[in-house]
Amino acid sequence: MKRTSFKEEGVNAREFFSFYRWFKSYVKGFYQGKTKEEQGIIALKEKHTLRVCQEIVRIGKELGLNLPQLFLAKTIGLFHDVGRFEQYEKYGTFRDAHSENHALLSVKTIKREKILQHLPLNIQEIICNAIMYHNVRLLPKGLSPEMEFYSKLIRDADKLDVFHVFVMHYERPLSSKSTIELDLPEGNGYSFAIINDILNNRISDLKLMQCKNDMKLMLLSWLFDINFLPTLKEIRKRGYVERIISYLPQTEDIQKVKRHLEKYLQGDHSGLAEINKE
Ligand SMILES: [Fe+2]
Repeated sequence: MKRTSFKEEGVNAREFFSFYRWFKSYVKGFYQGKTKEEQGIIALKEKHTLRVCQEIVRIGKELGLNLPQLFLAKTIGLFHDVGRFEQYEKYGTFRDAHSENHALLSVKTIKREKILQHLPLNIQEIICNAIMYHNVRLLPKGLSPEMEFYSKLIRDADKLDVFHVFVMHYERPLSSKSTIELDLPEGNGYSFAIINDILNNRISDLKLMQCKNDMKLMLLSWLFDINFLPTLKEIRKRGYVERIISYLPQTEDIQKVKRHLEKYLQGDHSGLAEINKE
């Protein structure tokens, strides 16, 4: 069983609320002069951020974090995607490969705007690193226990809400515009390489995505990159896996994926990270 221990303090309520006020007014600026459709897309990202703040606290509480640690986690949630607004404004897409890395853009924005300057340097560093690593395929080795922990926390909270966003999108498509699906083409096919990753309990590579079905398979492969048991329990409770699978073509390959993931979800997961705040 992996255990992480750390003693760092975090962020207080007053600091968090000043960050929150800054975030709201910063994002407000991006709605101006946009079409209804564009504003809808910006709103999706704003709402995603606010839900990630809730999810990260939900998971953090289950893991026994104290209040300053929960506000630290919530601050990471608040800023993890702040670069998305500039990315959409500049490039009209959320596809990093066609624009720039949105996590780096988030860190650049926070630094440029000097938002964290009153926090101790070590806390600033935890926030910036967790944001920088929230979207990498694999976390680098050798991170400090705090960096590793908060990076894993934001990755779990983000994934939990991305599952929500996509399931809502599949179940109640509100817009014909496919920005949310990274402008991928339709099609009945899917990538065998992603299926192979799933069957081998591996998170897949974004570069393998060629169509909308691949995006669904990619989401399913994220299950193997969930770090904490409370996150996995939420995924199970909300039925995200079955719901995503129901929007894929019901072929023998997909049935195999379904059986494999059901078995994985029912496993004991004692190898998942735990924390020890001693
Ligand atoms: Fe992100």
